[in-house]
Amino acid sequence: MSKNFEATSMRTLLCGSIDEGHVGAEISVCGWVAKRREHGEHLAFLDLRDHSGLVQAVVPGSLDVRSEYVVRVTGTVTRRPEGTVNDRLATGQVELTNCTVEVLSVAEAPPFQLDDRVEIDEQVRLRYRYLDLRREAMQHNLRLRAKVNAALRRAMDDQGFCEVETPLLWAPTPEGAREFVVPSRLHPGEFYVLPQSPQIAKQLLMVGGFDRYYQIARCLRDEDLRADRQFEFTQLDLEASFVTQDDVLGFVSRAVLDAAEAATGVRPGAIPSMTWATALDLYGTDKPDLRFGMVLCDLSATFATTEVKAFAASTVKAMRVAGGASFSRGRLDQLTDQAKALGAKGLAWFRVTNEGLDSPLARFLSADESAAIRDVDGAEVGDIVLCVADEYVAACRVLGSLRVALGAPPVSEGPHHYVWVTEFPLFEGVDEDGHLQAAHHPFTMPHPDDLDLIESRPLEVRSQAYDLVLNGWELGSGSVRIHRADVQSRIFSALGISDSEAESRFGFLLGAFKYGAPPHAGFAFGIDRLAAIFAGVENIREVIAYPKTQSGTDLMTGAPKSITERQRRELRLANAPKG
Ligand code: AMO
Repeated sequence: MSKNFEATSMRTLLCGSIDEGHVGAEISVCGWVAKRREHGEHLAFLDLRDHSGLVQAVVPGSLDVRSEYVVRVTGTVTRRPEGTVNDRLATGQVELTNCTVEVLSVAEAPPFQLDDRVEIDEQVRLRYRYLDLRREAMQHNLRLRAKVNAALRRAMDDQGFCEVETPLLWAPTPEGAREFVVPSRLHPGEFYVLPQSPQIAKQLLMVGGFDRYYQIARCLRDEDLRADRQFEFTQLDLEASFVTQDDVLGFVSRAVLDAAEAATGVRPGAIPSMTWATALDLYGTDKPDLRFGMVLCDLSATFATTEVKAFAASTVKAMRVAGGASFSRGRLDQLTDQAKALGAKGLAWFRVTNEGLDSPLARFLSADESAAIRDVDGAEVGDIVLCVADEYVAACRVLGSLRVALGAPPVSEGPHHYVWVTEFPLFEGVDEDGHLQAAHHPFTMPHPDDLDLIESRPLEVRSQAYDLVLNGWELGSGSVRIHRADVQSRIFSALGISDSEAESRFGFLLGAFKYGAPPHAGFAFGIDRLAAIFAGVENIREVIAYPKTQSGTDLMTGAPKSITERQRRELRLANAPKG
């Protein structure tokens, strides 16, 4: 039956909510003409669509309406005559009869059919996004996203978090992506920066005594676009004071599980944790997809004294691919090229057959080596074992990428496997100038047991940073922050950030910390990514009303566009030479 909020001054019900319980009622519905059929001169059938669904209206006489006209139909809800019931339609038991039709708006023929069963070129969909949004799939995706947002807000509110909006016109933030800059008219030659995240603003809210902050925050990053990346995206961003990592994991888990339940109707179980080191070792990545097995096995000990040149490396990692013995030579060459493109020197493969291992390398293996490969992950006849020999991290990562390429089900398939990945390294390598790079951002607190290693063995320092991963997608990241000036200055010097640079980039944060910074920690996760996985779509564009194309344009508005000479003058923007 109808919900009260469906009724307006113009309509009684939504099209999709009419059912047998309404039979006999005289009602009005409003919407778009999905289809029109004439039945002789004296009867016309109209399928009327609004966001809730379709209903059939029977109109005496002929009708002067076309597809996508906006109309108001008034008629009587009637049980359909026997033989005309349409089981594929939610309202297929009934129809509106004896209808009068009022045209509210005429419409030109749409440039594509608004029917989910028809494949439409995405460029066309994006150019006419407002029409694309009328389609059931887009209605579903955006409404699903709205449910997720509502559940997140409720969960944060229930946990005592206070929603605070932070500025979009801001100063550089430390996430490390290229920033969008906005020229200032009042301060010619100076620029605002659009925030990559509210990172610094939220840490300042902790100094400001907010205790628990959250925001459904728009973030902007000028980075290359991919299926899971847009220039603009939305985070559930949070920060809390007087908490540990476990507290934050608890807050976020509650919010995500609530959102999952709201979106899918099923509440997932508690989210397990795994250290970064284990994720790398078993899955070759910091975002393990736990929907499938194919764990990596370490054969380094067996191959420590190998005679086989291809295996002469500090690490030998192996992975079983079930049924892979049937891979053709072409397929195996392709996988080898893929491994090389990822930085491996090569890829060794061994078909498991009734006669033993089948591979160009098989005859060079010792009995122990052969047995170890034969046993990888319980390999059986008909499988193939892939091996990469290299330095440890490289071997894990290459095989981890092949694991996903060969085993990962599509986004729309399989259960949702969440996992917390903890104890990330604090630094992730060295830049061209020989400075260490922060793995998360420069305000991340080192693991308390590793504080003594910052200067001596920095690459071994673990951090109190954590990621939330869902089906191989990084949903979000967070960390316990540094609130002590002495630790912060050791990290800045390890990162090669001088006192003057720290002062100019983050002076206002460091200055604030002098006035009493509580211990604090936080997290942010991408709502676009979460909604995409719930909707079962591969690209976050499908859960964004007005996304950019891969090349960063908005096909509907034409943005980015040039501006007028006058705007240019006001902003003192010179015409930069092209090239
Ligand atoms: P981070 O940079 O890891 O952390 O971002 C958190 C999450 O935001 C989402 N995300 C994106 N989604 C779509 N398009 C993008 N271009 C994009 N970039 C990031 C991802 C990612 O996991 N301030 C820290 C969080 C913290 O420490 O509290 C931050 O922004 O889902």
